[in-house]
Amino acid sequence: MESERNASEILENRQGEALDLSYSSLPGAHKKLYLESYGCQMNFSDSEVVASILASEGYTTTREIEQADLVLINTCSIRENAEQRVRNRLTEFKHLKSNHPEMVVGILGCMAERLKKNLLEEEKLVDLVAGPDAYRDLPNLIAEVGTGQRAVNVLLSREETYADISPVRLDKGGVSAFVTIMRGCDNMCSFCVVPFTRGRERSRDPKSILQECQDLFNAGYREVTLLGQNVDSYRWNMLSKGDIINPEESAMNFAELLCAVAELSPELRIRFSTSHPKDMTNDVLEAIARYKNICNYIHLPVQSGHTDVLSRMNRGYSREWYLERIEAIQRIIPDCAISTDIISGFCGETEEEHQATVSLMNEVVFDYAYMFKYSERPKTLAERKFEDDVPDETKSRRLQEIIELQTKHSAERNRARVGEVYEILVEGPSRRSEEQYCGRNSQNSMVVFDRKNVQVGSYVMVRITSCTSATLIGELVE
Ligand code: 5AD
Ligand code: SF4
Repeated sequence: MESERNASEILENRQGEALDLSYSSLPGAHKKLYLESYGCQMNFSDSEVVASILASEGYTTTREIEQADLVLINTCSIRENAEQRVRNRLTEFKHLKSNHPEMVVGILGCMAERLKKNLLEEEKLVDLVAGPDAYRDLPNLIAEVGTGQRAVNVLLSREETYADISPVRLDKGGVSAFVTIMRGCDNMCSFCVVPFTRGRERSRDPKSILQECQDLFNAGYREVTLLGQNVDSYRWNMLSKGDIINPEESAMNFAELLCAVAELSPELRIRFSTSHPKDMTNDVLEAIARYKNICNYIHLPVQSGHTDVLSRMNRGYSREWYLERIEAIQRIIPDCAISTDIISGFCGETEEEHQATVSLMNEVVFDYAYMFKYSERPKTLAERKFEDDVPDETKSRRLQEIIELQTKHSAERNRARVGEVYEILVEGPSRRSEEQYCGRNSQNSMVVFDRKNVQVGSYVMVRITSCTSATLIGELVE
């Protein structure tokens, strides 16, 4: 599953006015949608599907919450603090609603199923609740709210992939886009709430994926990130609705999908997230090595460096297996960056087990890591089977230790890139200055350089001259 990268973002539909005019007879005509997303990349991608469904109803999006007729918040349940942030936000909306009684407030996403009762009935914080597989039903739910009822649909589906919906792109750059290739997860890692909030795993029709990527390329996008909770188990049509079709011809796996997307254009970069160590096969690594436009970057969550902890986590691999997969990456793909996710203080984690994570980090030297304190989630295997018995101070101390080590490793990795020349896809002005542009190399490092007269969305060659632990600094190579 992918990491929680941006805490929250207010999104705006850049198509704005045009949509407003062309849908003037629809239920949402002249109505404004304010959409806020929390959590993982999949949630941001889902928000684009939601914006598209509501655009067909006539809604346009706004960044000004005060002007909104409909306020939707796409929520995350992965850790308790993510849920708490959403609750705080909903309380703020409640105050806003007291000045705008007509405003409809709804929650979407992973918190929907778990909290529908509390949010809707007890605390009366929201008018509408829609789970991750219920977005097509939003127009009906909004209509129900219009008749004075509170509306809920949290049904999970075995089939919904929103394959036919062309997402409204909500990002600012217009260079890089997310493309969802599968939904749900069947892995049942014992700490993880995702299988309960997002349901069973299902893959999306490759034809619709390829069409979406082609449309993005035609619209000027130069990078797609293929998203799924476990992309390595992508599989289309082995058993089509129960019929066994000749598997040789009808099945497409993730490596084949990657190659098919890469063939669309050498000018289109492909990234993907998230890989699972137990399922990542050499054919995926060979596809990356074969195509220059499939980026040399793999996010491979390890979670813990100790086999006993991995076993309690139900991850399906050992420390040795993980290290063998790292070796395979390094053998097959020269200069591949690797990042990971780590949980500190999982149930029963001893000091020795924690030290095994530290030693694994020292062995691999990850380019980057997302690191979290274990947070017990309702319904999960861990909640039912184990005690959340590592004291909070111990969790924090261990987390601090691994964060410090990772910061050192990231700086080391970056220092090793000084002097190299990389092809960079230009994303836009850097955060610090309009005079500087930023973009990423294939390895996903952020590179900042003087803009001169380069175009956003173009590829440029940049020589790295210095670095911080988070960013490479360079100069254009003419
Ligand atoms: N507590 C802490 N971290 C968690 N993650 C998932 N569930 C939990 C939890 N209950 C982390 C894992 C996962 C990432 C997206 O979030 O590291 O890979
Ligand atoms: Fe990722 Fe495991 Fe959660 Fe599935 S169950 S989303 S693989 S952490």
